[in-house]
Amino acid sequence: MPYIIGLHSAASAFLSAGFATQFTVAVVICLIIVLVTSSLKEDELEAPKSLPGLQFLSIIPFFRQRHDFLNWGFHVTGQSMFQFKLMSHTVIVLSGTPARRAFFYAKGFDLTEGFKILSGAIPMVRGVTSGLQTKRISTIHKRLAAVQKNAPLSDLIPAILADSRRILESFGSTGTFDPFEKIYELIFQTTVRSLSSSEIADDSALVSRMKTLYDRLDTGTTPATVLTPWIPTPAMIKKLWATKEIYDIVVRAMNAREASGISRKDTLQMLIDSGDDKLAVVGFIMGLLIAGARATGTTASWIITFLGGHQTWRQKAKAEAEALLAAQSDPTSSTSISARLAEIPLETWESQTPVLDAIIRETLRVAQPHTAMRRNLGPEMYINDKLIPSGAYVVYPFSDVHLDPEIYPDPWRFDPSRKEVSKVDLGYVGWGVGKTNCLGTRLAKVELKLTTALFLLGFDHIVVDKTGEAPDPLPKPNWNDILMCRPAPGTCYVKFKRTNLAL
Ligand code: HEM
Repeated sequence: MPYIIGLHSAASAFLSAGFATQFTVAVVICLIIVLVTSSLKEDELEAPKSLPGLQFLSIIPFFRQRHDFLNWGFHVTGQSMFQFKLMSHTVIVLSGTPARRAFFYAKGFDLTEGFKILSGAIPMVRGVTSGLQTKRISTIHKRLAAVQKNAPLSDLIPAILADSRRILESFGSTGTFDPFEKIYELIFQTTVRSLSSSEIADDSALVSRMKTLYDRLDTGTTPATVLTPWIPTPAMIKKLWATKEIYDIVVRAMNAREASGISRKDTLQMLIDSGDDKLAVVGFIMGLLIAGARATGTTASWIITFLGGHQTWRQKAKAEAEALLAAQSDPTSSTSISARLAEIPLETWESQTPVLDAIIRETLRVAQPHTAMRRNLGPEMYINDKLIPSGAYVVYPFSDVHLDPEIYPDPWRFDPSRKEVSKVDLGYVGWGVGKTNCLGTRLAKVELKLTTALFLLGFDHIVVDKTGEAPDPLPKPNWNDILMCRPAPGTCYVKFKRTNLAL
């Protein structure tokens, strides 16, 4: 028992020492005790509370039942912030107004790094979808801004309408469809038109193939493909293969354009003319299609669903589109509505559609199940006196603000007449805020307005359930579906009848 002997001789040495030594030793011991206990306490106080239970049990619900899981976390910890582990990664979940501001403005919070681990829709291919230097990301953002300048965006209007007309005509004169398939398909086409090349967009079989491949990237995202992408699971191999196929499609289009020597008026041409290298062009098209098509498609699907269930708003939006047509184009003209809508200038679409603006805004509030994700690249910081260490992942669910009944009374009710929130700091984040704003907003809004206006003028519609009856209650966005907020299967279809206007 050497340590007992050691302690014993230390005690006798202490007792036989003089008062000065005894006093000094006692003070030092007290100081050590205070320091150790206070540092333990501080750690406990500083770290956001952890979820109870086994850490690995968080993984599946975070990916499969995110909305319920995050709400449960706030509930079970009784805190406005909590943390949990995804494998070796610490993830801190925030809520509340001061935390929201801190999250969106923190200098060290990085979107790309956060997205990489926590979202993982697209496999990381070094140099194309990952490991992009800041310079390449900023080039992609610069080109996206160029696509949305007045002239190119105006040029896109007739093309988007022509695509929409072709697809809507294929619906027939009466029938029923699933908006989360058909309207998403329509937006996928108009987004491919806007962000890639006319050769790809003109080839409907190729667009359909690309949609299948993108769906594979989105729906093939499993916890394993995100957290252990190096393990060649069948899901991961499928995703990698889909990425390769998309890559090949884009490279083929690019090579064909260059070989033809013919210049076209589209985004691919703009990218080639800007002198960007092949990887930058492919990165632009692959990355932005996934960022843009799904969010815009989800919003468009929900707009048509909400308007099918709220006939008053349907009528208001339709009246706005009719008024635009009457004011801007010859009402006696015998041309199709898509051709007449194409005559309306971009500026009018952007500034004289208050009803469509309110509908888009409200749709994003109630049916955009986004959880913003960041990684703290450092330094460590405090939010609400809780430590956010360097390297930690931090997430902020949009439901915290958009579905808060204090800010939006009866939050699940679709009501575009709600006043813009002015009393709450950052009370609406539908297009991002602070350091990260959506860089495709202008394009997305134009796509949404053109397709919605054409649909409302060309069709009468209501929502029905699988029995063909009007559902009661109306379909409710399911925030656990992180892609489309899609309601329960079988609860939501669109029943339509063509109007007598030629599309
Ligand atoms: C209705 C459609 C859309 C919605 C609701 C939407 C919403 C958002 C939101 C909320 C953010 C910020 C995310 C965050 O803070 O975590 C964002 C970022 C972004 N969006 Fe969109 N978006 C839409 C369409 C598009 C389109 C069509 C494009 C491209 C053509 C696009 C490109 C981007 C990019 C590049 C960013 C990242 C900006 C950055 O890194 O600073 N979005 N979007």
